[in-house]
Formats: sequence, structure tokens, C-alpha cells
Amino acid sequence: MKFFVDTADVAEIRELNDLGLLDGVTTNPSLILKSGGNIADVTREICDIVDGPVSAEVVATDFEGMMREATSLAKIAENVCIKVPLTFDGLKACSAIRGDLDRQTNVTLCFSANQALLAAKAGASFISPFIGRLDDMGFDGMEVIAEIRQIYDNYDFDTEILAASIRSADHVKRCALIGADVATVPPATLKALVKHPLTDKGLEAFLADWAKTGQKIV
Ligand code: G3P
Repeated sequence: MKFFVDTADVAEIRELNDLGLLDGVTTNPSLILKSGGNIADVTREICDIVDGPVSAEVVATDFEGMMREATSLAKIAENVCIKVPLTFDGLKACSAIRGDLDRQTNVTLCFSANQALLAAKAGASFISPFIGRLDDMGFDGMEVIAEIRQIYDNYDFDTEILAASIRSADHVKRCALIGADVATVPPATLKALVKHPLTDKGLEAFLADWAKTGQKIV
């Protein structure tokens, strides 16, 4: 499973990329607002750090506006992936972006398997089902991931499942068990994956015993 980080915080991205953990980055208008930066400047800075796909989202809601914005975002860097919403204009733009701009696309704000089916038929590179927001409404976000996985496998669709709106390490594990292609994870959640109290306890005990040997390796 590929790990993308879900943030526009350049410092966080640089730190995680230095750990060799990142296969890409996803941003959205809310994350750009949170970054306090200009979308073009922030996206360019992120693309200079991470080699993988960096999702930058259009904000127009009509096809023509989406294409204008996608053309502008694509000029920022070769690894900019254009994010469009799961609407009919977004799906139309998805096809056109792949065809006319030859760019990857990430269809976002997906909340059902049927929406994901439409995105695959539109040739989306990635589909972003929002697990956490489904859970917040009392639905089962992981069930939607499982349904999409089965449908995509039934028809051998190329679209990659990019699990989004991830809120916990358990979400990450369950996405991997189901076979999501990518998980886009908030920085804190990504860092938390490495933590286990028994690891900390065991390392402390090893070091204490090693100190008693009086030895040095180098
Ligand atoms: O990429 C989508 C993601 O940022 C949404 O997460 O926590 O706002 O539902 P959240």
C-alpha cells in the first residue's frame, strides 16, 4: 500500500519525506487555507520535496472553469495530480484532463461505491472515498472501501483506491487488509503508526541489559 500524507504543511511533508515514508501528498482547499500560503507557491514547494503525485484541487464547479484551473495547476510541476469533485462536471473534467492535459486525476469527495464506479468509468487515476466523514454520519466508511475494492477487481479497473479522511491507525490497518492502493494519512496519524508501548519497553530493557555487559560494538 502506498502512503500519501494529507496536508499542505511543508515542514511536516519534508520531515516525513526524509524518513522515506512518502509516496505522494494530497491537499484540498481547506488544507491550503490551513497552510496560510498561496496554492501555487505551496504546491510548487511540495512538488520540489516529493517525487510522487501531489494532488491540487480545482475550486471551479463548472467544466470550463475546472479545465482552466487544471491547466494552470498542471503548469506548476510535472507531478501535480489534478483533484476534481465527484460531480458530473468533475467527471467530465476528469476524462478531459487525462486526455487533453495528460495528467493524473484524483476524484475526491466520494462517499459511495456507485460514485466510485462512475469515477473509474471516467478514467480517474485515483478515487478518494472519505472514510472518517462517513463514520461521522453513522455509516461504515470501511464498508465502502471494501465495496469499491470488489467492484474495481470485478472489472479490472485501473483506478487506484486512495483511502482518505483517515482518522486512526486502525483505519490504516483496515484499508491495508481490504487492499486499498493508497492511504492518505494526516501527519500525526502517519507518525503514530510506528508507536507501540511494548516496542518502547523492549528497547529500554535491551539497552539496560547491554549497559551491564560493559561492551561496545564500535
Ligand atoms: O483529502 C481529504 C481529507 O483531507 C479529508 O479529511 O478529516 O477533513 O474528513 P477530513
